[in-house]
Amino acid sequence: MFRFSKTHYASEALGLGEGSRVRLAGWIFRKRELGGVIFIVLRDSTGSIQVVVREPEIGPSQLRSAREAGLESSIIVEGVIRKDPRAPGGTEVLANSLEVVGESDNYPIRKGAGEEFLLDNRHLHLRSRSMWAILRIRAEALRAAREWFDSNGFTSVEAPSIVGAAVEGGATLFEINYFGKKAYLTQSSQFYLEAAIFSLENVYTIQPSFRAEKSRTRRHLTEFWHVEAEMAWADLNGVMEVVEGLVGHMASAVAERGAEELEILGRRFDPPDTPFPRISYDEAVDIAKRKGVDIEWGDDLSTEAERAVSLEFDSPVFVHRYPKSAKAFYHMPDPSRPEVVLCVDLLAPEGIGEIVGGGQRIHDYDLLVQRIREEGLNVEDYKWYLDLRKYGSVPHGGFGLGLERTVRWIAGLPHIRAAVPFPRTITRVTP
Ligand code: 4AD
Ligand code: MG
Repeated sequence: MFRFSKTHYASEALGLGEGSRVRLAGWIFRKRELGGVIFIVLRDSTGSIQVVVREPEIGPSQLRSAREAGLESSIIVEGVIRKDPRAPGGTEVLANSLEVVGESDNYPIRKGAGEEFLLDNRHLHLRSRSMWAILRIRAEALRAAREWFDSNGFTSVEAPSIVGAAVEGGATLFEINYFGKKAYLTQSSQFYLEAAIFSLENVYTIQPSFRAEKSRTRRHLTEFWHVEAEMAWADLNGVMEVVEGLVGHMASAVAERGAEELEILGRRFDPPDTPFPRISYDEAVDIAKRKGVDIEWGDDLSTEAERAVSLEFDSPVFVHRYPKSAKAFYHMPDPSRPEVVLCVDLLAPEGIGEIVGGGQRIHDYDLLVQRIREEGLNVEDYKWYLDLRKYGSVPHGGFGLGLERTVRWIAGLPHIRAAVPFPRTITRVTP
């Protein structure tokens, strides 16, 4: 662990014995003065510790700068550890010197600040205890995802963010002017991963995807982090097994390694048991109808329908075999029932809904051309993608998992934008 400008982090100092000498560097989280003694709660990336500042130890001039320093000023403190039951955590630092490194006057974020204000000030709000916990949980979820892929024989592959054609339909494409030609921000790396399986077989990528989502919801961002995998020779069951392994590991890793962070958020999270229940789209429609949702066979599952279904289960649930009309052109029709495709969504519990979408792909050249035409798309745009069906095609499948939706579920967040450091939505591109 690097310790720049300090001998200990706050959480390390809390564990030291009476009389230990420390040099701490951090920010003023709280401050109060009682009878000429200043009590500062110093915050750093590991936690916080109380610092006691008195004139006899530090002299009048440093006492004055401590008195004048506003909340969130950055400071370097040298002092001695004292055990005192009145201090938070039973430990405090009696300061011998206190240097204000960066002043902070009238820190704008106060208790009770409104949601929009906090979003406008996300660059500062990241310092809050709750954002600290969320960022750590997100990092843990990402680490767990990589760890799972890397230890299960997947190779990571990177795909471009600037692309020539839609993966998930034209309605949510961000168009960019690419030296006078039309190009788009990627909606999914799927097609590139499909190309890579012919070399590496089992592949994954974790990178941003973009969707020009015109609706304001609690589960859509315009830029989100997409965890995607593709497996040569995998059928629909194979896809579900991989999703189950990945999501199960992400959930249990965060529950275990992010226990402190979940507690800060007041979140009780028990990682789900595997295997996850599997139901067909038909059964999902029945459940939704029974619960009064307005839905007909053939419609995609609406937010309300997904919510109704997900509330029926206390673990994530797979919903497979949606109507062909509800899904993108590349999904493999079910040979025993051509009106549905071999796709699967994973719905997270507690009403969260879809966190993963995937399935088996069409690997037959003629069928893929036919589906591209049926959807009114331009075969020319998919020329290289079709090539993959011309030279040694294999059955294969894959999926995409939305990192923010998954973090929202695990951390119990009310809105997807809480799950990303700097959210991008229809109304927000700053900070
Ligand atoms: O279901 P989607 O659209 O599927 C695909 O993009 C496939 N091409 C993935 C694949 O098979 N490789 O998106 C996959 C997941 C969704 O389940 C959701 O979790 C997330 O990506 N997602 C979004 N997350 C936040 N904001 C949005 N606007 C999202 N759109 C999709
Ligand atoms: Mg989907």
